[in-house]
Amino acid sequence: MVFKAIIPAAGYGTRNLPITKAIPKEMFPINSRPVIDYIVQEAIHAGIKEILIILSRNKTAIMDYFDRSIELEWFLNTHQKSNMLKGIVPPKVSFQYVRQPQALGLGQAVQLGQTFAGDDPFVVLLPDQLCLKQPPPLCKMIKLYEQFKHPVIGLQTVERELLQNYGVISGKQIQAGVYRLDSIVEKPQINPPSHLAVMGRYILTSKIFAALNQLKAENGGELQLTDALNVLIQQDEAYGYVFKEKWYDTSIESEYINAQRCAYKMNKQT
Ligand code: UTP
Repeated sequence: MVFKAIIPAAGYGTRNLPITKAIPKEMFPINSRPVIDYIVQEAIHAGIKEILIILSRNKTAIMDYFDRSIELEWFLNTHQKSNMLKGIVPPKVSFQYVRQPQALGLGQAVQLGQTFAGDDPFVVLLPDQLCLKQPPPLCKMIKLYEQFKHPVIGLQTVERELLQNYGVISGKQIQAGVYRLDSIVEKPQINPPSHLAVMGRYILTSKIFAALNQLKAENGGELQLTDALNVLIQQDEAYGYVFKEKWYDTSIESEYINAQRCAYKMNKQT
C-alpha cells in the first residue's frame, strides 16, 4: 500500500514574482482555497495518510493553513457562525514539515524526505500541477504501482514545440497508456525521443534516495529529480502512465486563470 506523500514547496517561484516575494505560489487561491489544499485533497482521495511538505523560510503560511486556528474557532462559535466551522477544519491526515535551507533543486527537496519515507513507497506531488477531475488520476497510478512494485511516473502528451520545456521519456508501450521507461531526456532542444513529457506526479521507492545520494557525491550543487530517475531507470524497472485528464500548471498565469474558471463552474454546479 502507498500511504505516504511528499509535497515539495520550497522553490522561489520566480515565474510568479513579485507576488511570490510575500505569498507562496502554493497559496494562490482557487475558490477561496489555496492550490496546495487541492493537492492535499487529491492525496487523501488516493488513500494517503501521511504527508511531508518541504518548505522554505517564507512559506510558513502553508503550515498555518493546515493547522487549527483555535481563536477563529472560538470566534465562529460565539458569533452564530458555527456553520462555517467545517470549512476551516484541517484535513484528516498527518502532516510533517521539513525546511529546505536553499532551493537547490527538486531532487534535493525530495532527498530531505528520506527519513520520512523509510523503506515505504511514496508519492511525490508537485503542488503547482493541478487536476480537477474526480477521482484523481493518481488513484490509477497507485494501482499500477501495486501491480508492478516499481516506480510509476505521470506523463502527458505535449505538443512537439513545447517538449523542450519538459523531461521527455523514451520507452515501450506495454498496455494502453502504460510505458516501460528506457530513459528521460531533460528539456531536449532537438530530436525529442517521444511526445510524452514527465508531469508532476511520481510514485517512488527508497531506491531513489540511493540515486540522489550518488548524484550528490558526483556533482554537488543542484540536484534534479529527473537525473536521479534516469540513474534509477538504467538500474531497474520504471513505468510511465499517460494522463488523459486536463492538467493546469498554476505557475503559468493563463493556466491558473483557466483552473480558477473551471473550479468556479464546478462549484456552482454542486
Ligand atoms: P518549480 O520550478 O515549478 O518551482 O518546481 P519554483 O522553482 O518555485 O518556480 P520557478 O521555476 O522559479 O518559477 C516544482 C516544485 O518543486 C518545488 C517548488 O516549490 C515547486 O512546487 N521545489 C523546487 C522545491 O521544493 N525545492 C527546490 O529546490 C526546487
